Amino acid sequence: ENEKGIVYNITAQKGTTEIFDGVQTATYGYNGSFLGPVIRLTEGDTIKLRTNNALSEATTFHWHGLDVQGAGDGGPHQLLQPGETKEVEFTVNQQASTLWFHPHPEGATAEQVYNGLAGLIYVEDENSKNLALPNEYGVNDFPLVFQDREFSNDKQLDYQAVLNEDGTLGDTLLINGTLNPKLTVRKEKIRLRLLNGSNAREYTFKLNTGDKFQQIGTDGGLLNKPTKLTEIILTTGERAEIVVDFSKYKPSEDIAIINENGAVLLPFKIDEQKSNSVDLPETLNNYAVTEEERNLPVTKKIELFGMGDMVTINGKKFDMNRIDFTQQQGETEIWELYNKPDMMGGMTHPFHIHGTQFKIVSIDGKEPPASLQGWKDTVAIQPKQTIKLAVKFNNKGVYMFHCHILEHEENGMMGQVEVK
Ligand code: C2O
Ligand code: CU
Ligand code: CU
Repeated sequence: ENEKGIVYNITAQKGTTEIFDGVQTATYGYNGSFLGPVIRLTEGDTIKLRTNNALSEATTFHWHGLDVQGAGDGGPHQLLQPGETKEVEFTVNQQASTLWFHPHPEGATAEQVYNGLAGLIYVEDENSKNLALPNEYGVNDFPLVFQDREFSNDKQLDYQAVLNEDGTLGDTLLINGTLNPKLTVRKEKIRLRLLNGSNAREYTFKLNTGDKFQQIGTDGGLLNKPTKLTEIILTTGERAEIVVDFSKYKPSEDIAIINENGAVLLPFKIDEQKSNSVDLPETLNNYAVTEEERNLPVTKKIELFGMGDMVTINGKKFDMNRIDFTQQQGETEIWELYNKPDMMGGMTHPFHIHGTQFKIVSIDGKEPPASLQGWKDTVAIQPKQTIKLAVKFNNKGVYMFHCHILEHEENGMMGQVEVK
């Protein structure tokens, strides 16, 4: 820390990781061999991200969910060749949230993420610092990055061999890059920051007891109040912060996060140690879709269509040299998304916009569920659905919007908005 602000050095590099006992798997990582560090930001701070490409191929550093100028957003225009360094300076101007970062080079995003390039960004603000939420990293506040991978017989990642045009899936779940992890927790309320960092797979998270947990945050901020749920679904790119109350379980009980089929994703080991478990604050935030926003006309229409390599947005495939939309800095516009079904019925697309956190105004004309009434940068849209978003950019530049199934993005399901 100095008068020029806080500097973070982030290097994309190759390495090997012992994912399976006694075997080294070739992987990519940031500042390490696999995945990346947590970058901690506080609203109001001046930050310098010094990025460095130590790979033997071009990459970019994209800050997913961060409110930053287009030139520093790390989209496909901001390539770093091997050995190149680039600095991004900005002032943190957004709410407490869990964001992430990953590469975005045209044609190689999916493969580089698959190989391990992904890290987290935690944002804190005055509000979050004063709230009595679990916030001790690794004690009662854990990041959980869910990614499915397919390993070859010799336990290597061979993206090209398993590539699926509709989204590459794997038969092996890694959480924070670890195979079969078990999380030790104390008998208290535990905050879990969930990131679906997969290329394509959608996850449903529930407790094996059927008990409710509380959601406290969406992609880009805290919910207005803790919201009780029995399950939460995250499509790729999405985050949610949840709090599970372990004070009510005995150390002998088998508590786990399971998926919709009952398969165990993450088992917990409950520590004997008792710890005080305070109630969560009743109010966490003051998010609202305003009357004015509700009454704004639709000024941008996005039609998502197709499957495999036939995917399009408004009938077109991505073109680096084509600006699809323009929008004025600081002005809110209503983007209407429509997922047009095809003869096969179509599929869910996680729609993401760079450089902003948006509000979901309506889903098929109705109020979104409580767990989506908060700041978002990625929203799942099902076939035939219409979703209205209130979108405002605080910075200028060219930003991508795309399906976050990374293979759909690679296949051209992406466009560009220029903010002037
Ligand atoms: Cu996770 Cu274009 O983004
Ligand atoms: Cu992004
Ligand atoms: Cu898609």
